[in-house]
Amino acid sequence: MTKKLFIKTHGCQMNEYDSAKIFDILKEKENFELAKNEDEADLLILNTCSIREKAQEKVFHQIGRWRKIKDKNPDLKIAIGGCVASQEGKNIIKRAPTVDIVFGPQTLHKLPELYNEKSKTNLDQIDVSFPKLEKFNHIPVNGTGEPSAFVSIIEGCNKYCSFCVVPKTRGHEVSRTIEDILNEVSALAEKGTREIHLLGQNVNNFKGTYKGEKSSLAKLIELTAKIDNIERIRYTTSHPHEFKDDLVEVYDRVPELVSHVHLPVQSGSDRILKLMRRRYNIDKYLGLVNRIREVRPDMSFSSDFIIGFPGETNDDFLDTMNVINEVRFDESFSFIYSPRPNTTASEMEDNISKEEKKERLNILQSRINQLSFGYSRKKVGTNQSCLIYGRSKRDPGQLQGRTICNRIVNFPSNDIDLVGQLINIQINEALPNCLRGNLQN
Ligand code: SAH
Ligand code: F3S
Repeated sequence: MTKKLFIKTHGCQMNEYDSAKIFDILKEKENFELAKNEDEADLLILNTCSIREKAQEKVFHQIGRWRKIKDKNPDLKIAIGGCVASQEGKNIIKRAPTVDIVFGPQTLHKLPELYNEKSKTNLDQIDVSFPKLEKFNHIPVNGTGEPSAFVSIIEGCNKYCSFCVVPKTRGHEVSRTIEDILNEVSALAEKGTREIHLLGQNVNNFKGTYKGEKSSLAKLIELTAKIDNIERIRYTTSHPHEFKDDLVEVYDRVPELVSHVHLPVQSGSDRILKLMRRRYNIDKYLGLVNRIREVRPDMSFSSDFIIGFPGETNDDFLDTMNVINEVRFDESFSFIYSPRPNTTASEMEDNISKEEKKERLNILQSRINQLSFGYSRKKVGTNQSCLIYGRSKRDPGQLQGRTICNRIVNFPSNDIDLVGQLINIQINEALPNCLRGNLQN
């Protein structure tokens, strides 16, 4: 009999990738189908994020809502995965006894076993261990035909930035082999995927082997571009410290590599960068941006910023604003610093008021929005080659695609056959978060 599964995903693209694989594994091994809603599910899975305190609290609110469904359907199982699960382990069940299974980012392939054990014995199941790369031996390699697909290439992180929980929750860096990755890319391409988004917390420290020898992200990108039908390649996230020359040069040789890079700077102050343990200073960062722009003059850069890191003075903040003005970042993500368990920054004295932090965040976000809108306006009147992703969610009479610089473009069309194709769109309007255009004849 088919069973029904409902997955809710919080957090980053790695979690989105993991959730898709959780479904593939449970479908293949246990005959699960996706439920239309939570009420008809036999298994509810929450893939969690613990990057900031608020993200973590969302987990227990969600479990509270699901408990009401379980009160009506006692056979329902609830499984909690991802970074909060990894960080808290059995404490999740202590705080929320309604939970049946706790698994981590590296043990998602064990879900069929954990689910069966729980059903048979009714004993709570917890496995948040870090068996290196084991999950990839269990993930079915099967394209789904979506125009753009994530592919994980490196798991975990060794950087231990002083504010970040990821090295503890996702474990240490481990790269897949290039052969294994290309195998997944080929399966996706055969089913119709045109854009590959290579994923990792720190992709430019990728060290996967190729024909038995240690290789690099640059080599992986070149080999990915050679696979038939792959027309675009993206990667996230790259750490400025390990952005090597061969990766800069690859922008010259591989036109499939998009003209957008997410290169989180976090702060514009060398003093704060040192306290964050980021391993670069602003001179180095700007030097890298300039080197990349020499090879790709139209490159768009986005970043993450942490505002109100312990001890951040107004001068430090102004340094961040200076870097923003110098690089002219496009769409970026900015967050107020949130102390995380077992990180060194959480022990640093933090004497900036919440109001001050919020004010700095507002100033930064309005400048980024202004730059981003300006960047969009420059595209009005141009022709942009766009990969078409599907119908616009807001307006089903429009199709949606992305430019090579990562801008969303909506245009009127009901021709669903365009999905998955690269099409020229004449841009005629810039809105704050997207462009509008028309199909070019
Ligand atoms: N590997 C990436 C970052 C992954 S975490 C890198 O090297 O930059 C994603 C983003 O969350 C970070 O870039 C950072 O801006 C933000 N972040 C991480 N820990 C945080 C914390 N404790 N408080 C606020 N923001 C945080
Ligand atoms: Fe976190 Fe720094 Fe790694 S931000 S994911 S510890 S590079």
